[in-house]
Amino acid sequence: MNTFSAPKGTFDVIPPRSASWLAVKEALSAPPRASGYAFIETPIFEDTALFVRGVGESTDVVSKEMYTFEDRGGRSLTLRPEGTASVLRAIVEHGLDRGGLPVKVWYAGPNFRYERPQSGRYRQHTQVGVETVGSADPAIDAEVIWLASHAYANLGLSELVLLLNSLGCKECRPRYREALQEFLSTLDLDDATRERAAKNPLRVLDDKRDTVKSQLVDAPLIVDFLCEDCRAHHEQLKQYLSDLDISWVDEPRLVRGLDYYTRTLFEFSHPGLGAQSAIGGGGRYDGLLETLGGKPQPGIGFGLGVDRTLLACEAEGLEVGAATRVDVFVVAMTEGAKTLTVKLLSDLRALQVRTDMEYAGKGLKGAMKSADRSGAKLSVIIGDREVEAGVAEVKNMATGEQQPVSLAELIDYVKGTLK
Ligand code: HAM
Repeated sequence: MNTFSAPKGTFDVIPPRSASWLAVKEALSAPPRASGYAFIETPIFEDTALFVRGVGESTDVVSKEMYTFEDRGGRSLTLRPEGTASVLRAIVEHGLDRGGLPVKVWYAGPNFRYERPQSGRYRQHTQVGVETVGSADPAIDAEVIWLASHAYANLGLSELVLLLNSLGCKECRPRYREALQEFLSTLDLDDATRERAAKNPLRVLDDKRDTVKSQLVDAPLIVDFLCEDCRAHHEQLKQYLSDLDISWVDEPRLVRGLDYYTRTLFEFSHPGLGAQSAIGGGGRYDGLLETLGGKPQPGIGFGLGVDRTLLACEAEGLEVGAATRVDVFVVAMTEGAKTLTVKLLSDLRALQVRTDMEYAGKGLKGAMKSADRSGAKLSVIIGDREVEAGVAEVKNMATGEQQPVSLAELIDYVKGTLK
């Protein structure tokens, strides 16, 4: 009979690599959790209109990549392509912005984009994100960037680059948009790009094709159009980053694929990933809460890609997550010894000692192979003779040395040896 495969562009997170994937996810969420950010979980699907309005109709994410369907009640729903719109929808819906500000939340979960699959680009990917709503202080921009760079540093990543830009605000961006549009109108562009230049000219700066890129060398840059407030905000952020020993590269052409950004924009890029080099990114979205029907409130956040961050760790040869499944492997040589091993297994686990036992009913040789494969440092072998004598044989898997230990002292002995 035919078997099934995971849908195109998706992948299973399976052992042994799943241990590293989970460790990356936990490492990325550790800094926000330790910094007073509250956890938030939103549905995986939302009203389609939320993303159209929040992320922007002319973005690739909305116009080309959404998984949209009608449910049995005739509603148009979309699998979330990103987390920010959903989280801000929840903040408005539950009035979280009416309490103490800023609201600071973190989240983790899958997102869905109908993209052309390739290494590092999937149709389902997982992000760890934070959103903060209610503060326009550049110190919170620095905090958000620090949370991400601290997480990457904790994983041991050293080759990544922080790219930084400011996109201005509703005062100064229109002037830049106009100048850019004027410049783009003089170029030799295909119809689709010309249309994009009319609708969303900043997106043209993100075009990866050499034919377009080569014509953009003299394009006007947003830095030259920032108003006094935006310039001051950006300078202050850079000062804070320097104070925090975070280095960055100014990237005046950085635009990201989502329409809600204002002012601070950043992306962490890793050279080991080829075309899909962005392992995480974010920015300010000072108008988004209002766009979604809330009170005008500034905000900033990020989304860090778990799958790409793991690829970056692998590119740097970093070992992430426990290499072994357990520390102790228990083997019952006879049915009679089983009662004792089942109890011992649960006692060790209750004491946080990572323990497993042989369930396949193999002989001693097969059981020791399982012990080896588990990566355990110690195996504990109990047979009828041992039960009678009140001892267990404890084998050090690295040296092969084996010695009897009385059952009464076994747990202390195991804990002492593993220290
Ligand atoms: P984003 O840049 O679209 O931003 O996605 C964040 C990260 O998710 C990317 O840097 C990348 O690592 C990962 N990612 C995105 N698409 C894919 C894909 N197809 N396959 C694998 N990984 C992917 C956002 O989604 C914003 N919501 C971030 C944000 C939060 N901005 C402000 N707050």
